[in-house]
Amino acid sequence: MTTTLPARRKIILDTDPGQDDAIAILVALVSPELEVLGITTVAGNVPLPLTLSNTRKLCELADQPTTPVFEGCARPMVRELVTAEHVHGKTGLDGPDLPEPTMAVQPEHAVDFIIDTLLGAEDGEITLCPVGPLTNVAMAMVKEPTIVPKIREIVLMGGAYWEGGNITPTAEFNIYVDPHAAHVVFTSGVPIVAHSLDVTHRALMTKEWIAAVRNLGTPVGVASAEMLTFYERFDEEKYGTNGGPLHDPNVIAYLLDPSIYDGKDCFVEVETGSEKTMGQTSVDWWGVTKNAPNCRWIREVDTDRFYALLLERLGRY
Ligand code: BDR
Ligand code: CA
Repeated sequence: MTTTLPARRKIILDTDPGQDDAIAILVALVSPELEVLGITTVAGNVPLPLTLSNTRKLCELADQPTTPVFEGCARPMVRELVTAEHVHGKTGLDGPDLPEPTMAVQPEHAVDFIIDTLLGAEDGEITLCPVGPLTNVAMAMVKEPTIVPKIREIVLMGGAYWEGGNITPTAEFNIYVDPHAAHVVFTSGVPIVAHSLDVTHRALMTKEWIAAVRNLGTPVGVASAEMLTFYERFDEEKYGTNGGPLHDPNVIAYLLDPSIYDGKDCFVEVETGSEKTMGQTSVDWWGVTKNAPNCRWIREVDTDRFYALLLERLGRY
């Protein structure tokens, strides 16, 4: 008797590590349900040379140095780059002392990799998972609009509505850094699932959970715990909570088990006209505009199952 294994979901992970990006990368790379076709890097939490080297450090930590890693856009489409060293530290990955990476950077530009991979795929075959500013994804759509129907879905971390912003009073960091790119993506017609601060702020890490990650005792477990210990101090001080949110892994957890989450299909627009509210995501939660929904706006998460899933996956290393 032959058994057919379920197809692995093909994803491109677009990222700006970042300690929370790091956990998303580590969990994605170890999960057999996902086929990571490539990791594309973008300027965001720190400038591009650092997000690129941090991504390679993480692939080597995961003992997956053949993962195709691509260098993407060094700045947002229109605005100056804004970074977040105040959250992630000078390197973007402060905490552990990871060795300088030696694995290859692919010669193709990240935008061209996204385009070529989608053009070579069936319609609806590939899911894009951006967990940083949306520059690479939007640039790919602008450069080659025929990729749009090829994309199965964009599952992203970004935006804020009920919760308010984390970089301005109204904007979340990823959307704020490149609001024009976010506008391109949200008006593209591709189905979007957005993990905004409305959901990530509902799932706070605890010290006990970080201790459990450290107690895995593996290089991945110990390095992850060191990253998370550095990372959570900022949010704890800012929000006065016991533990901070772990934004980006929500995207990967959703792909692995969407039943952990709930939300509503809404029409979402990105503010690009007002300096005061630049990058705000306007979510038509109550359907007052009558515009067709362009996004599933996630708002509910089962926090215990989310952290149990992450721990179980980190434990596979
Ligand atoms: C987002 O901004 C970055 O600092 C994090 O990596 C996450 O992607 C949260 O606003
Ligand atoms: Ca990120």
